[in-house]
Amino acid sequence: MNAPPRHTASDRASSNHVTIFDTTLRDGEQSPGFTMSAAQKIAFAHALADLGVDVIEAGFPNSSPADFGAVQTIAREVRGASIAGLARCHAGDIEACARALDAAAAPRVHVFISTSPLHREHKLSMSKEQVVERAIMAVELARRHVDDVEFSAEDAFRTEREFLVEVFEAAIAAGARTVNVPDTVGYATPEEIRDLFRFLRATVKGADGVVFSAHCHNDLGLAVANSLAAIEGGARQVECTINGIGERAGNAALEELVMAMKVRGGWYGVDTRIDTPKLLDTSRLLSRITGIQVQRNKAIVGLNAFAHESGIHQHGMLKNRDTYEIMRPQDVGWPDSQLVLGRHSGRAAVADRLRALGHVLDDALLDRVIADAKALTQTQHVIGDADLLRLVEGERFGPGWRIAAMSLIDAGQHTRAQVELSDPHGRRVRQDAQGDGPVAALFAALAQATGVDFELESYEVHSMGVGRDARGEANLSARIDGDTLSGQGTSRDVLEASAIAWLDVANRVLRAQATQRVAATA
Ligand code: KIV
Ligand code: ZN
Repeated sequence: MNAPPRHTASDRASSNHVTIFDTTLRDGEQSPGFTMSAAQKIAFAHALADLGVDVIEAGFPNSSPADFGAVQTIAREVRGASIAGLARCHAGDIEACARALDAAAAPRVHVFISTSPLHREHKLSMSKEQVVERAIMAVELARRHVDDVEFSAEDAFRTEREFLVEVFEAAIAAGARTVNVPDTVGYATPEEIRDLFRFLRATVKGADGVVFSAHCHNDLGLAVANSLAAIEGGARQVECTINGIGERAGNAALEELVMAMKVRGGWYGVDTRIDTPKLLDTSRLLSRITGIQVQRNKAIVGLNAFAHESGIHQHGMLKNRDTYEIMRPQDVGWPDSQLVLGRHSGRAAVADRLRALGHVLDDALLDRVIADAKALTQTQHVIGDADLLRLVEGERFGPGWRIAAMSLIDAGQHTRAQVELSDPHGRRVRQDAQGDGPVAALFAALAQATGVDFELESYEVHSMGVGRDARGEANLSARIDGDTLSGQGTSRDVLEASAIAWLDVANRVLRAQATQRVAATA
């Protein structure tokens, strides 16, 4: 990864490049449930550099020895992005921050102090004059260590405008290159924040030589909209986090902001350095590290972001994907869109999926498979490829053996399985058998009921999906007369999935035997 282009602050202030300042490892990591170990922070910082963010806020070095260590290692190891550390306007914080960033190729010290009347009175117990004095002291001290100093006026949005101008002018005169305007409590609306940025850019002395930055929280769900409005008002840095994690309802989501700027480039007229096909992997890495998944319908990186289930949408997508998609899934890291077969899917989607699986069905057979698939959606939400193939085979060759009910009884050292099956003619067959575990007992009962037996070559079970949609998928294969036959089954219950997979193989064996008998008598 090449180093970011080094422009002067005034180049950046007037350019169309929006600096992406990622604070996943600071504002994100400090929120409940998202704490990371030093090793995890370092791994994630590498991923952020690879993604192409301009500034990585690696932590708050004076907040704990662990944070100091993580920022120091990131500063030493990670190249391709500026590395920032956060510091209050206290000499101790700033010195610690500068020390932690010592080995960085492009260090940034980010100092902040609250400016709103509420914070001045109840949090700091400081007058306006004291706040300005402290801001000047902090920026000057930070500039003795590094060239790149950012000053943030915490709770800027709720600060008196004339005081905000005064503080920013003082910070700029003291040497700040970026001035950050946080909506710390997520109170702003897009119109107001656009207007505030226009006002500040037009009023603050020295505004042309610095970058104005937006830092929006999501308490009203407006963080991304507010950051975009700030860009319209003249902001050329946005502070954001992967998956929108951060204090309370979070910060502006990086992936959403970046894709809004890209997809609506004609409107915003700005660009970023983000390598957008890496967005999904970066989001998933964060979920793996923190153990917290994004919601299914999350823009860009949620499981449903490029999935279509309703028949009308699927039909449109098959004709022209622009009907229901405004960006290519590949542009953010998905392999492709997904036409999910479920209760709302239509004929075109089922036919398309079957074609992709190698089955071109005539209209009558397709109608029957669709009817079977709709019936199946009464008991399972999503129809997978294995389900579809089984339905086609069932319609072509008859349903074969099917599971009607099953139960397992733990009998000390052994397990007893009772199965009730429906045979190929629809008659009920009951059987029970014993085994030294639930799977062995179940397969023994199935073998005795069907009269088919085989040695398993492989047997795997894994779970798909989470929560109410979670299902078990069983895959097994058996070597029979020199051929490998495999079977699959899915169900909410992994043992039932295993029984369906076992019967899938048994039905293939029976069909192969029937075909051989017909051939022999012909
Ligand atoms: O939300 C906020 O105001 C902050 C500052 C420290 C930038 O996170
Ligand atoms: Zn914040």
